[in-house]
Amino acid sequence: MIRFESVYFAYEKEKWAVENLNFKIKKGEFVALLGSNGSGKSTIARLTDGLLLPNKGNVFVDGINSKDSPNILKSKVGIVFQNPDDQFVGTTVEEDIAFGLENLNIERKEAHRRVYEITKRLGIFRYLKSSPSMLSGGEKQKVAIAGVLAMQPDYLVLDEITALLDPVSRKEIFNLVYTIVKESNIGVLYITHISEEVLPVERIILVSNGKKIKEGGSEEIFSDYKLLESVGVSVPAIFKVYSFLKNGLDVTSHELSESILLNKL
Ligand SMILES: Nc1ncnc2c1ncn2[C@@H]1O[C@H](COP(=O)(O)OP(=O)(O)O)[C@@H](O)[C@H]1O
Ligand SMILES: [Mg+2]
Repeated sequence: MIRFESVYFAYEKEKWAVENLNFKIKKGEFVALLGSNGSGKSTIARLTDGLLLPNKGNVFVDGINSKDSPNILKSKVGIVFQNPDDQFVGTTVEEDIAFGLENLNIERKEAHRRVYEITKRLGIFRYLKSSPSMLSGGEKQKVAIAGVLAMQPDYLVLDEITALLDPVSRKEIFNLVYTIVKESNIGVLYITHISEEVLPVERIILVSNGKKIKEGGSEEIFSDYKLLESVGVSVPAIFKVYSFLKNGLDVTSHELSESILLNKL
């Protein structure tokens, strides 16, 4: 389990980037962290694997305090960031994925098996000998995800991994990650500012100014339009349509779209 216990973190004195944060993620759970730019999401990501340590409070991963053993946390928690170009270390996709495994002293044969398996699963097997820089944004992100998954972490933190992608690739990457981790027993913190993405997620943590504002399912999170507006997060159009239908209202698609556009819903 990842456990944040009254965690505070500041880059500059007296200015909390994360303030009194409490949450838990169990193995096998898929949890979303939703918040606007600057709300503290990436800071929270870096706190989960011991890259940053709390100024006050504690972060535990499977009972291990990040202040005691940051390196153990790094082996338990895999992180993928927004920009795949910042994450490549190899000249080919194969080398790039294998690099992390070499660092873990995984035996060559086992490393080969893992690279084969994960690239097949993610649909990037045909790019093994290609340079990561030649791939599309979505494919690059698949390579970054493969590199982390090959290390078989217990937890995965995905920090805005779809933010730079077009809507089609965004959906593809989200679906892929969602189905792969549902098949496994990995605990996931899926970080995003895009509210549409997290509609299917059972537990959403809404953050603003480094603080947890609300935690719950999509119905609880998205039904308070005023709250979302105040923290700079949009209400997904599909949720508005859902609310509309639930109330049994009969409208044309034009009226519905106009109401959404003009924030009348
Ligand atoms: N390296 C840093 N040095 C100083 N302040 C930072 C640094 N990184 C982030 N911050 C500040 O911390 C706050 C939270 O940032 P961040 O965690 O990156 O938010 P998000 O990922 O939600 O956009 C912001 O006010 C940001 O300006
Ligand atoms: Mg960020």
